[in-house]
Amino acid sequence: MEYSFQRFLEAKKRIDDRALNQRVWESLKTALIGAGGRDPVRILEIGGGIGTMLYRMLADGVLSRASYTLIDGDSENIRTAAVRLPKWLNALGLETVSRAGGLFIYTPVIAVDAELETADIFEFIDREAGQQQWDLIIGHGVLDHLDVPRLLPELCSLAYPGALLYFTVNLDGPVAFEPVLDPILDGRIVSQFHFVTHERRAGKNLSGSGPAGRHLFTCLEKAGLKILDAGTSGGVVFPRQGHYAGDEAYFLHFMVHAVEEALKDHPELEKSRLTEWAMMRHEQIEGAALSYISHQIDFLAQVSS
Ligand SMILES: C[S@@+](CC[C@H](N)C(=O)[O-])C[C@H]1O[C@@H](n2cnc3c(N)ncnc32)[C@H](O)[C@@H]1O
Repeated sequence: MEYSFQRFLEAKKRIDDRALNQRVWESLKTALIGAGGRDPVRILEIGGGIGTMLYRMLADGVLSRASYTLIDGDSENIRTAAVRLPKWLNALGLETVSRAGGLFIYTPVIAVDAELETADIFEFIDREAGQQQWDLIIGHGVLDHLDVPRLLPELCSLAYPGALLYFTVNLDGPVAFEPVLDPILDGRIVSQFHFVTHERRAGKNLSGSGPAGRHLFTCLEKAGLKILDAGTSGGVVFPRQGHYAGDEAYFLHFMVHAVEEALKDHPELEKSRLTEWAMMRHEQIEGAALSYISHQIDFLAQVSS
């Protein structure tokens, strides 16, 4: 099987749609009405992938007049966003005009100028601090990959006083695959995956115990941010009547592959047992017999005015 991160993100979209905490989403919509009063409202999305959150906000009527800066460290994601967003948005009845570095999205009542840029978040902050500010900063499924105690204060330098921060689907513990194959092996695989992926991407500076959405309660407050709302946003994938919806089987294959890749050289796991585990999980997906659960938390926070 070919593994494409962009296809994985597209498959993940509908899982995240179901997962997002609706109350926190509504809190965002309410708070956004009063945010800054700037017209257009200025939004920055970090680690925005292929643009699924921008699409989601337009599909749900959250945006009318906005300038939306989406950055991601992976240039293939940005290229994919530039190609896919116009197709997705046109299918919603929105007009789009592509331009160098982004696209303009409009209807008689919507005018959104979207900038799509390949950039590392920390380099972007260094470049933009003191130059530009935003009313809303979004990070969807991205804080798990970053050094959060370092990021939050730096990110605040890009925020207007009173700006909102919306951080969603933050993992709050190891993911789970059901049914369990071998309780000890399964437990070691998911907990090591949880720890290793975090350590590799974010360094050892989050909580000392891998990504955990709950630590954001402390991290946000330490960064001087007020938490306006928080709620769980668990991701659940399971087969119905022998089929996975949409491209969810691909999402599962990708997750199993990601676990195997991350742990293949792990000193505490026998490689042959890991390979066998992954093979059995792929077979379960083919037979529509695997379910997947991830516990996550959404946060809406605010910079002091
Ligand atoms: C799990 S993906 C989520 C993507 C997107 N938000 C979504 O949910 O579809 C995490 C994203 O963060 C991006 N990312 C990770 N570290 C980054 C960094 N230091 N700067 C910019 N983007 C980063 C990755 O390239 C990846 O696209």
